[in-house]
Amino acid sequence: MRDTRFHLLAVLAAVSLGLAACAGAPPKAPSTGCNRCHNVATTLPPKHPTVVEGGIAACVACHPPKPDTIEPNPFPARMHRAHTRAGVECATCHGLRPDGSFILLEVPGSLGTLDVADFGRVKKAMETWATFPFLAGTHGVKRNLMCGACHARQLIPEDNETTLNARCVACHGTNAQVSAKLKSRLANPHIDPHESHLGDIACTVCHQGHAASQAYCLGCHTNFVMPIPGRAKS
Ligand code: HEC
Ligand code: HEC
Ligand code: HEC
Ligand code: HEC
Ligand code: HEC
Ligand code: HEC
Ligand code: HEC
Repeated sequence: MRDTRFHLLAVLAAVSLGLAACAGAPPKAPSTGCNRCHNVATTLPPKHPTVVEGGIAACVACHPPKPDTIEPNPFPARMHRAHTRAGVECATCHGLRPDGSFILLEVPGSLGTLDVADFGRVKKAMETWATFPFLAGTHGVKRNLMCGACHARQLIPEDNETTLNARCVACHGTNAQVSAKLKSRLANPHIDPHESHLGDIACTVCHQGHAASQAYCLGCHTNFVMPIPGRAKS
């Protein structure tokens, strides 16, 4: 058991070292994936409890995974922002089991299921979440909301995006409720993106998570002035 574990870590360490920008001398032993780049103890927030050296499993003892919570989740939000921006390999902390379970290394349980061929899409989505102010990133930066707040455990959304839209509504309300809240702020209350002759349409018709949002109305009403949050990288 112990040997297998160390072998796995050594392989992952070698792979990561080859790809990630990591200053300093290579590690003497395949101790943990973390201390290759920094002393985790001194990277932790001030007054943080002392942590015994180890991989991500040492953290989840006190920060258990909550892959579909709608609550702010600052531990993984900070870990992903820091490491994704620095180009750290996902394999430092994650693995994919043959049955498609996306996991944390040495931590029981699954964060969601994934076809290995789709991993590139998840990685790209993580990069936009961590670096760009499109809507997914806005939710991350302003509220430490992770992927699961919008996606639950469905890492690749289904075609009709039912799960996603149900999550938007759970936090923001229906079109009618958003409309009621926003009406007084609109330039022209008769031109309301959340209440129109199109009826109760899905949020994601206009609001994108990882790309520029655009009000669908503008496809026909080219004269409307209808700015939307998350329409461009600012
Ligand atoms: C390939 C290099 C690399 C590896 C491997 C790595 N980190 Fe980091 N880590 C960074 C960089 C770069 C930063 C951002 C700059 C900084 O704060 O030091 C960072 C930041 C952090 C932070 C501070 C986050 C914040 O918001 O304050 C923590 C905590 C951390 N890492 C823990 C870990 C843990 C735990 C592991 C192993 C599971 C790990 N790191 C593996 C490079 C790495
Ligand atoms: C003994 C329990 C314990 C362990 C183990 C532990 N933490 Fe923490 N951590 C805490 C507590 C308590 C807090 C403060 C309350 C909170 O945010 O959960 C905290 C907060 C944090 C925060 C700040 C979250 C915020 O609110 O901004 C980061 C980042 C963090 N821990 C990283 C780590 C990393 C990385 C590891 C593994 C190397 C780790 N922790 C292991 C107990 C622990
Ligand atoms: C330093 C460790 C670390 C690195 C590096 C890391 N992750 Fe994670 N990841 C975690 C932890 C811890 C969780 C569990 C968070 C939770 O559910 O509370 C997690 C959860 C996730 C989830 C589940 C979504 C959710 O809302 O919790 C996805 C998707 C994910 N990671 C993708 C990635 C991708 C893609 C990369 C590489 C670009 C990556 N991670 C790199 C530690 C890491
Ligand atoms: C504010 C809600 C929100 C958050 C947070 C969010 N997403 Fe998304 N995501 C969306 C929406 C909406 C779509 C569908 C439209 C689009 O592609 O932007 C989407 C689409 C996707 C897709 C499909 C893109 C493609 O390749 O076609 C993936 C994969 C994805 N998200 C993964 C993630 C991951 C991983 C995270 C966390 C790092 C995350 N999302 C965080 C809202 C969110
Ligand atoms: C877990 C709750 C939650 C979920 C799920 C969620 N949001 Fe949000 N959203 C928030 C919060 C909280 C803010 C306010 C952030 C702030 O300004 O402090 C916000 C902000 C916004 C904004 C304003 C952004 C800005 O830049 O001003 C838009 C638009 C939005 N959400 C749309 C959506 C859509 C569309 C979805 C579904 C894909 C969604 N949200 C999912 C909680 C959520
Ligand atoms: C037809 C396009 C369209 C659809 C569909 C749509 N929105 Fe919007 N949404 C917009 C536009 C445009 C704005 C910017 C309004 C403004 O501030 O002038 C906006 C703004 C918002 C805001 C920001 C409010 C604030 O306080 O600034 C939230 C939250 C939001 N929408 C949630 C939703 C939710 C939830 C749904 C689905 C139930 C939805 N939207 C459906 C176009 C749309
Ligand atoms: C598929 C094309 C199409 C889309 C998309 C569309 N409309 Fe229309 N809309 C029309 C047509 C056609 C009329 C009736 C002819 C006219 O008066 O321009 C109309 C009429 C209107 C009118 C009354 C006339 C006016 O110009 O003041 C309003 C207000 C309006 N639409 C708002 C919206 C809003 C808000 C959206 C987005 C939620 C939207 N429309 C999306 C085609 C569209």
